Amino acid sequence: MGNFYSKRYWSVGFQSRLYDRLSPESYFESMRRVVAQLPKEKFLSLLDAGCGSGLLLNFLQEAIREGMDYTGIDLLESGVGQTLLRAQELGIADRVSCFQSDLTSPLPANTEKFDVVVGHFSLYTLATDELRQVALKNLSTLLKSKGLLVLVNPSIGYDADLIVDQSIQLVRERYGFFSSLVKQYFIFPFTKLIGLRFIQKQLNSKSWKAYTREEFSREMEHAGFKALHVEEVYAGGAFLGCFVRNQ
Ligand SMILES: C[S@@+](CC[C@H](N)C(=O)[O-])C[C@H]1O[C@@H](n2cnc3c(N)ncnc32)[C@H](O)[C@@H]1O
Repeated sequence: MGNFYSKRYWSVGFQSRLYDRLSPESYFESMRRVVAQLPKEKFLSLLDAGCGSGLLLNFLQEAIREGMDYTGIDLLESGVGQTLLRAQELGIADRVSCFQSDLTSPLPANTEKFDVVVGHFSLYTLATDELRQVALKNLSTLLKSKGLLVLVNPSIGYDADLIVDQSIQLVRERYGFFSSLVKQYFIFPFTKLIGLRFIQKQLNSKSWKAYTREEFSREMEHAGFKALHVEEVYAGGAFLGCFVRNQ
């Protein structure tokens, strides 16, 4: 699958807001798990690396209202536009900035600026080990010396069916039986068809990276990070890791 097609894939998804509407509940749950890892202090500065349409803002809005500063970076103009629009709609635009930039090029921010850097399902789309190392080194320079890096990347256990099954269950627990029926029959079939199966194909063909737990740890060690915590999220289809820089 060509690079052009995969870029258009996100771009069309962001602009049409299909990305927001079709994302499975299990994806939102993974974002909630990311937020749960953040230090409890107010006034943190957070970089969302590969922010896409800024979905994470939905889960950070309370922390932002209490003083967090959010910066998003994405390769795609449509992602930057949607992130800024979302910030306006949520009424938090004064503490949100977003730039178009490539994570594999030097990034437009001061070194050691951020308390927290998050990469939620973004670095795995960099196809080679070398590119991901470059991106990790760039992110490392932006992180304060005791800063926290939280990454979520797909695992080799990525399974569209399991993600949808877990999402139905999560919607039922959170929003009730009727909502789960609507999602199960009217939304998630499209989630699977347009979203999850495409991603699974990209992972199987190794165009994008799916990790074993050991590969994830090794890659991060190689980039100069020490793991504080690694857990499975996304119905066992991804790893969430919290890292600090090896001093
Ligand atoms: C699966 S989306 C995830 C978006 C968001 N983090 C989320 O969880 O909703 C992957 C994002 O990574 C971005 N991305 C991929 N390669 C990038 C690069 N080299 N520099 C910046 N962003 C990149 C894509 O544009 C896309 O928005």
